[in-house]
Amino acid sequence: MLAAGAQSGGGRSGEKPAKVTAMNKRLKKVQKALAKQKLDGILVRVFEGDNQNVLYLSGFGGTTAVLLITASKAFIITDARYYARAIQEAPDFKLVKVERGKKVSDYINEALKLAKLTRAARIGFEADHVSVEGLRRWNKEIDSKLTPTVHFVERFRQYKDEAEIALLSRACRATSKVFSEVVPLIKPGMTELELAFELDMRLRKHGAITNSFTSIVASGPNSAVPHHATGERKLKAGEPVILDFGGLFPGGYCSDITRTVFVPGKEPDSRIEEIYDIVLGANKAAFKALRPGVTWKEFDKVARDFIVNKGYGQYFTHGLGHSLGLVAHDPYDYEHDPFQPGTVITDEPGIYIEGLGGVRIEDDLVVTKDGSDRLTKAPYWKF
Ligand code: GLY
Ligand code: MN
Repeated sequence: MLAAGAQSGGGRSGEKPAKVTAMNKRLKKVQKALAKQKLDGILVRVFEGDNQNVLYLSGFGGTTAVLLITASKAFIITDARYYARAIQEAPDFKLVKVERGKKVSDYINEALKLAKLTRAARIGFEADHVSVEGLRRWNKEIDSKLTPTVHFVERFRQYKDEAEIALLSRACRATSKVFSEVVPLIKPGMTELELAFELDMRLRKHGAITNSFTSIVASGPNSAVPHHATGERKLKAGEPVILDFGGLFPGGYCSDITRTVFVPGKEPDSRIEEIYDIVLGANKAAFKALRPGVTWKEFDKVARDFIVNKGYGQYFTHGLGHSLGLVAHDPYDYEHDPFQPGTVITDEPGIYIEGLGGVRIEDDLVVTKDGSDRLTKAPYWKF
């Protein structure tokens, strides 16, 4: 239930919407898709949590609301903390005000009435975002037949429109600047956490609202652990350091970049240098191969084959990348949906050898009409 009058959960609440015209187009696409699924409407809900689908469709960046979307109408149901924002950020939606101490389902019923939907109406809900208990309550309290949908909104989020690509480009540009600013600060004796602080602080300085995930700084032997938990270890001269970080920027879009650098003051181990060149080669080969029609499996295989051919296949222990958007790991049906213009995907091969160290190099790529562009322009900086 919406806790009217409670404090905001924080998180993503500072976001401002992308262009209203883009929202409008997204809403229309969803409205058209309702008929195909024999639905009279759909409820899209966020409760003090991840608000990506609500933000994507309405522009509303707060963390508690229910959208009711029908073929021709759209309502946003929220409480007093968010009335003003809903009016400003979601101009295509009619505001239904939840009042203190009253049940949200009563207001959903009010919106259903305003939409002239009868008890027989089939209303979709997002089965992957509503808890079992939430559904039990809704089934009891809502005056329409509730029908589960899966990835109803997410499948539209797979292919980014112009407004989204502009926001992602801006996020990646700022994040690339952060990397360039931080590299000269890397010195022996500095701890991983101190280096992560420099990344986090500069992400804010360059406009991020928050991190898109907890920054990873993995030094020396820790670089052999792909998702190492950044700690107190002090950096030593000549060893590799993996920096994997990203920000969530105004508009709600994320960046995600990884660079591996060597701590100055000593020549790096020649085997790690060799690995560095192989990983960078794999990253570049995958970028070159990315174009519309390529499948996830094919994309992954380009980088994997490159590394296998150099004899390091067994040390590339994770997938090549992931879709990027309103979250760092954005939803995407990798198995069924080949890449199309607007797909934004990370390209992050890695080689990790216990006792020696590891290298990962990650870029964010956007599929264009006839190829792809690299959004993360940060240099590959070995020293
Ligand atoms: N950069 C962190 C991840 O891709 O999971
Ligand atoms: Mn990533």
